[in-house]
Amino acid sequence: MSKIAVVYWSGTGNTEKMAELVAAGIKDGGGDVTSFQAAEFSAELMDHYDAVAFGCPSMGAEELEEAEFAPLFEQCEKKLKGKKIALFGSYGWGDGEWMRCWEDRCIEDEAVIACPCVICNEAPDETA
Ligand SMILES: Cc1cc2nc3c(=O)[nH]c(=O)nc-3n(C[C@H](O)[C@H](O)[C@H](O)COP(=O)(O)O)c2cc1C
Repeated sequence: MSKIAVVYWSGTGNTEKMAELVAAGIKDGGGDVTSFQAAEFSAELMDHYDAVAFGCPSMGAEELEEAEFAPLFEQCEKKLKGKKIALFGSYGWGDGEWMRCWEDRCIEDEAVIACPCVICNEAPDETA
């Protein structure tokens, strides 16, 4: 059974809702899933999981949340080469630029992007 971590930051709950749906999907697919808020995770924990789904909304100006998620992700990047990952997050008024940048960054880090990233406008609806 694949051990998969869902690691997310959420200010108003939209990305958290997505994280719950991602975790439920992993469980339905037979995966062994553990969810972490960004503050509970560390780069060292990356070694304990076959795959990691990262979730962060668009913050700042099309950026990752800077206080908790961005510093954590920067540390995790050192372990991304060859690692199976997925990316998801909610956004407001933009066009998803933060996710394009984030995905490009992961490609540069030579992560294995396991599935197309999922973004949704504010709270996730049926389509998201
Ligand atoms: C400080 C701040 C900055 C934001 N910057 C952007 C942005 O650059 N682009 C965008 O599309 N949405 C932006 N948003 C909107 C959030 O991404 C959106 O409300 C999202 O649903 C929040 O997700 P959360 O509930 O998981 O925190 C920003 C929100 C806040 C509070």
